[in-house]
Amino acid sequence: MRTYHLTTFGCQMNEHDSERMKGMLDSLGIREVGAREEADLILFNTCSIRESADNRFLGNLGEAKRLKSEDPGRVVGVGGCWSQSMKERVFEQFPFVDVAFGPGQIPKLAEFLTSESLTAQGYFEFEGFSGHLPMKREREFHGWVQVSVGCNCVCAYCIVPSTRGREVSRAPGDVLAEVERLAADGVREVTLLGQNVNSYGRDLPKEQKASFAELLAAVDRVEGIERIRYTSPHPKDMREDVIRAHAELPALCEHIHLPLQSGSSRVLKAMKRTYNRERYLDRVAMIREHVPDCALSTDIIVGFPGETDEDFEATLEVVEQVRYDSAFTFIFSPRRGTSAAEYAEQVPYPVKRERMERLVDAVQRIAAERSQRFVGRTMDVLVEGPSRTDPARLRGRIRHNKTANFSGTAQPGEFARVEIDAATSTTLAGEERALSPLA
Ligand code: 5AD
Ligand code: SF4
Repeated sequence: MRTYHLTTFGCQMNEHDSERMKGMLDSLGIREVGAREEADLILFNTCSIRESADNRFLGNLGEAKRLKSEDPGRVVGVGGCWSQSMKERVFEQFPFVDVAFGPGQIPKLAEFLTSESLTAQGYFEFEGFSGHLPMKREREFHGWVQVSVGCNCVCAYCIVPSTRGREVSRAPGDVLAEVERLAADGVREVTLLGQNVNSYGRDLPKEQKASFAELLAAVDRVEGIERIRYTSPHPKDMREDVIRAHAELPALCEHIHLPLQSGSSRVLKAMKRTYNRERYLDRVAMIREHVPDCALSTDIIVGFPGETDEDFEATLEVVEQVRYDSAFTFIFSPRRGTSAAEYAEQVPYPVKRERMERLVDAVQRIAAERSQRFVGRTMDVLVEGPSRTDPARLRGRIRHNKTANFSGTAQPGEFARVEIDAATSTTLAGEERALSPLA
């Protein structure tokens, strides 16, 4: 086997896992190719968060089946959350798949590929962190750092606790050692990852105990790391020490992703989110008090079973009150094995659709208004490369996590001072004034 092609679906944790897979395949001497039909090894890293994620993947898997029937020497491997939720049924329903593995099983891929006989195999037990594996970074100056895996929540809609298992925190020393390695390798921004990232540390043994706020402070001290982000936190675990850290730690960015899911306390209860609307709004008030300019983003689900017009109006009210800089909005999708999939009062699709449209309108209007506060300001932009729409311009991100397109001469990995002259709901535009002192 000489070449591979990997398609990644889903969240940042999957992007991280894919970077590990690529690093591992590279070290086995298998080379990445850009087209699936050129690959001896066709890999997928899958997601199962909504039905649409399943469908997208299954369309791609159909192509792999065709390619394999043309050349039976090809190997097809499926990793990630969809695999984990299907387990052995992967092979019953898709017999052309050679290897299937869950999110905690990336090291097993190497074991499979280097074994004598490539007979169909499934690996679904969580075995440990992949931090020791090589990593092939998608963005040279940015590193994902896994601080925990799994999730102990029981949100009624979510498939993740069943695909990624119970929460396990990584020892703080291991996390720091990895951040130091990344910094030595030229990384300037890290994103700490956990399915419930801010409950980090609660399961650690006494001699290794560290809270999430302590971990942030330790990462902030690493020389060369200029920006720290993290995802995804849970509002129930958003403590004052973490919010204060955003004001106090120079590298910790002015952006917090705080998944709301619903603005109705009744629905939040049915979702088993363990906070209500007031507690959520208290967290937001605390963030605004300590970090007035902080960008806030969120996730919202419409059409959760039993959601009434009144409940939905409550969500719109919270959106108007908080004024998010951006929001990911989802139509509820029943997932196998979750309790909400069994609830009797499913909301009819046209109602979900209509609520979604109203929500998206509100979210976009507010995000566009919020963006205007950057116009006229000069912001630090970490340059990522050429602009996607105009290759003569540059693209990067400000600390508040908005993309900025600008004209200038800075190089990828440098920080540019960019004067913002226009803003839409999603992007900023401007001109480079000078390289930042950080550059
Ligand atoms: N249906 C719709 N959206 C969902 N999410 C998680 N599970 C579901 C589901 N069954 C959304 C939540 C979560 C985000 C990653 O995906 O908003 O925060
Ligand atoms: Fe998809 Fe969730 Fe798995 Fe991420 S953790 S890949 S979002 S199902």
